[in-house]
Amino acid sequence: MFALREGGAAVADVVREVRNERLARILPEAIGALHELIEKHRVTEEEWLAVLGFLTEVGKKDEFVLLSDVTKTSVLVDSITHEDGAATPSDVEGPLYRENPPWREKPVKIYEEYEGIEEGDVLFVRGRVTSTDGTPLSGAVLDVWQTGPTGGYDVWDERQPDYNFRGRFGVEEDGSYEFQTMVPKPYTVPTDGPVGRLLEAIGQHPWRPAHIHLIAEAEGHETLTTQIFFPDDPYLENDTIGAVKPELVRPLERCEDEEEISRRGLDGPFYTCEFDIKLKPVVRG
Ligand code: BEZ
Ligand code: FE
Repeated sequence: MFALREGGAAVADVVREVRNERLARILPEAIGALHELIEKHRVTEEEWLAVLGFLTEVGKKDEFVLLSDVTKTSVLVDSITHEDGAATPSDVEGPLYRENPPWREKPVKIYEEYEGIEEGDVLFVRGRVTSTDGTPLSGAVLDVWQTGPTGGYDVWDERQPDYNFRGRFGVEEDGSYEFQTMVPKPYTVPTDGPVGRLLEAIGQHPWRPAHIHLIAEAEGHETLTTQIFFPDDPYLENDTIGAVKPELVRPLERCEDEEEISRRGLDGPFYTCEFDIKLKPVVRG
């Protein structure tokens, strides 16, 4: 569009500096795709206002991460951001991570007893943290969180002490680690808000297979956020957030050896799970 300036020169007066090239390229395409959908399905004003009302509520209830998760958008973005190679595959963080979890001294145990815990099975997760070339990462720090064997996460379960089934800890000189926890169970993502209503409306179940979340950090290496899953879980093939990767599914071994049980100060059989972690060195440019 041209305008006449004083003196009569024609100049472009609406071309502005582009502050974000990527946004300026992607947003018009996103809007175009949305407009096409609206036209294709002849979306009405009433329906569109309902969509806007829904998104407003998602924001008010702080459920945008959850919405991104259940639409499997988080998994897609994670796979683009962290291409799987020689390192342990990454996976989404989900909305249940809590900052500043307690530091757990060795031998590492990430939970305290509470009413109902006896329904669960003790589990020791162990492995080695190395660089992708196999060099042990003795300075690595692990941060893990998961649900208890009943009642879900600490933030949902009044019986559990704060920060139960959460913790950070270091590894040994040779990169090895072990922590005591309990075998988690499948659980549903929060269903009491707008995202829960959306799932119900479209007939998508809210279940996730049992899993343990883990963040591994070591100097000079990319931080890995991932999850560990277990075979034979009814939701392994249809996780509501689509986050299961075959390489992250690890068998549980049951130990009934009396000597081993008493050496560990337990009063019954327990499980073990091996999970080696390979971190990718940071490439300095
Ligand atoms: C979780 O695994 O903690 C989770 C992931 C996505 C949505 C809700 C919970
Ligand atoms: Fe989880």
